[in-house]
Amino acid sequence: MTLLPRLALASAISLFAFGPALADTPPANNYTPSSGQAGKDVVWVPTPQALVDRMLEMAELTDQDYLIDLGSGDGRTVITAAKRGARAHGIEYNPDMVALSQRAAKIEGVAERATFEKADIFESDFSKATIITLFLLPDLNVRLRPTLLKMKPGTRVLSNSFDMGDWLPDARAEAGGDCVSYCEALKWIIPAKVDGRWRLENGELRLDQTYQMLAGNLRRDGKTLAISDARMNGAEISFFVDGKRYTGTVDETGKKISGQIEGGGTWTASRA
Ligand SMILES: C[S@@+](CC[C@H](N)C(=O)[O-])C[C@H]1O[C@@H](n2cnc3c(N)ncnc32)[C@H](O)[C@@H]1O
Repeated sequence: MTLLPRLALASAISLFAFGPALADTPPANNYTPSSGQAGKDVVWVPTPQALVDRMLEMAELTDQDYLIDLGSGDGRTVITAAKRGARAHGIEYNPDMVALSQRAAKIEGVAERATFEKADIFESDFSKATIITLFLLPDLNVRLRPTLLKMKPGTRVLSNSFDMGDWLPDARAEAGGDCVSYCEALKWIIPAKVDGRWRLENGELRLDQTYQMLAGNLRRDGKTLAISDARMNGAEISFFVDGKRYTGTVDETGKKISGQIEGGGTWTASRA
């Protein structure tokens, strides 16, 4: 079964998996959306409320965050985030769904923090978000991937069910509870860009970066030592070399790393 019919089929089930948060929200101006209805690039199927909750937990959402839901449907993710104190915004192509979401946000008392706009996600600037949520399709995720990867390191991306091609997730989790369909969340953390050569006090570090994963070596005292177990977690770097774990933070300029060496000591690196 292809993904679109799967989404449509799941829609019937998901409609009844509506969480308590918005289940009592009356339809706006008699507009009643129907799960599985056509959308610009993908149909509307609501994320089960249990998975919305799980996605926000995985994102470690706080009141300092600005969440943007790409293809926000009936607004449930945006409204749930706003009810937890964050600012949140939905970008949705269907104007009726935008109006429905705006009314729901008012009813829930969070219209100031939960905003919506009628727009195409592929023509929108969402670079100011600290958390992105999406429930699209894998090929749409892959189309968005270059834009997502340009976002500030540490930005969290949460997808309902669908992956990002060869960019493997940093975490996955099931909604649990009574969730019956589309119940898995995938999480990515936008990595700082560290690919290339870095000067250390007493050597040179070469990093080969594939998304959040790193390989490379440290040249020191005439020796070339391979690094292992190496990866980014947002702006945080961690690798193992010469029997020691190195951890550090890439600064805002992206040109300096400073951190600790396991067992004592510090290290700094600057772009070669
Ligand atoms: C599967 S639904 C997910 C809805 C919501 N994010 C959720 O998780 O409950 C996808 C939504 O994306 C919207 N959509 C599809 N293509 C879009 C586009 N190019 N720009 C903005 N919204 C789009 C659809 O109208 C639909 O509401």
